Amino acid sequence: MKAGIGALLLLLLCAGTGRGQTARRIRFADLPPGWEESESSLESTLRDLEQRTRERFREGESDHLVAYLLQSKQFTAEPAIEPALSAWEYLGDGRREAMLPAGVERRADDFLRASPGKDPRLAYFQKLAGSGGKDFLRSAYDRCMRFLLEKEQRQERGQAPADLYRERGLSVDTQVEAGFAVWTGLAVQQSLQPEWRADRVLIVGPGLDLAPRTGMLELFPPQSYQPFAVADALLSLGLARRDRLRIHCLDIHPLVVDFFGGFSKRSEPLLHLVSGLRREQLSSDFEEYFRRLGGSIGREQSLRLPPPLAGHLGKALRIENDVARGVTADRINILTGRLDPSPGYDLAVATNILVYFDARELRLALANIGSMLRPGGILLHNEVRPEIDAIAAALGLIPVQGRVVRLSPEAGSGKPLLDSFVLHRRR
Ligand SMILES: C[S@@+](CC[C@H](N)C(=O)[O-])C[C@H]1O[C@@H](n2cnc3c(N)ncnc32)[C@H](O)[C@@H]1O
Repeated sequence: MKAGIGALLLLLLCAGTGRGQTARRIRFADLPPGWEESESSLESTLRDLEQRTRERFREGESDHLVAYLLQSKQFTAEPAIEPALSAWEYLGDGRREAMLPAGVERRADDFLRASPGKDPRLAYFQKLAGSGGKDFLRSAYDRCMRFLLEKEQRQERGQAPADLYRERGLSVDTQVEAGFAVWTGLAVQQSLQPEWRADRVLIVGPGLDLAPRTGMLELFPPQSYQPFAVADALLSLGLARRDRLRIHCLDIHPLVVDFFGGFSKRSEPLLHLVSGLRREQLSSDFEEYFRRLGGSIGREQSLRLPPPLAGHLGKALRIENDVARGVTADRINILTGRLDPSPGYDLAVATNILVYFDARELRLALANIGSMLRPGGILLHNEVRPEIDAIAAALGLIPVQGRVVRLSPEAGSGKPLLDSFVLHRRR
């Protein structure tokens, strides 16, 4: 590890949370029971994991850049290009193109020429591309398209593309749709254990709507909304008391941590919630969820969506200041770091993050998350993978319930859109 990066990591890991806990790197005694490696190899194991996370983070950022390059309307009059279609055009039928497709070429030129103005995404991605110019964009595009094509081809062959996520770059994406399975999971947890309460909550990887691979929405600056959706769910279900509720987020992405650092200080903490899917693609249950979303944490303001988004569900939400102040964040790699002493959270939510981890990484992530829960605390995630139950149970996170949640209408044609939740209770 280079000295500069090492010093930065140490600084990050020693950063006090201001709540009596310190974010620290794990020690040998923290490793899951039966860990195969010796104490003397711990340092190199952690360094490898951190190095790998940095590489995957960089790959993920370059995938977001390509998604932005193909879809944004901020820097060009060229039509948006659907990334999966671009992958077919570039590489389909066994083609081995060295040239960017013409539409991508024109967008790349416009992107490199554009003045960032006030668009935070454009400024962010131009900085990411740095002085690499067209070569940088070409190689980012090539890598991203190869991944997309393989994913599409596996899907066409009826194979689950999930294993690909264990190799790919880390995405920071989030959508309001993710809140529905969490809300449903919390309602089920309440029915299983009516006396259970969750005033102290951990969100692992809350994400940010930076530049999703498809259906990019760029009407508003990047936002993170999962902690607010969780706060709203807990309060509306009567599972938390507003004066006690505190939500802490852990994420490796600096933009996510910065978002929460700045949000509560705004004179008007305002979220713009827009569904990634159109109304007719969503079930009436989801629509009802969205209609109520935010009622316990803020005041709704009208939001007129422009014509291309007219079919989407949308609302602006002025978050009450006390709720906004109750959401905080730290930068931690959940594979190699944890808060110490244990904050004893009542609830940990980790959706669309465990999918990125292989079995070894899952053991570390779940050991770290479990260590921050109180006995009887609940972990809620949405990764239905048989190995997770066994890994979690060995760590004392007993699986108690899991269900598939349907986002699309019952009568809809085509493949149903599904999410899920899984609940584990810490022994
Ligand atoms: C795909 S997003 C999911 C966002 C949100 N939870 C949702 O369901 O919409 C994954 C998030 O996990 C974060 N993440 C990925 N690997 C991580 C790690 N090793 N430690 C901490 N955060 C990580 C990413 O930065 C990102 O914010």
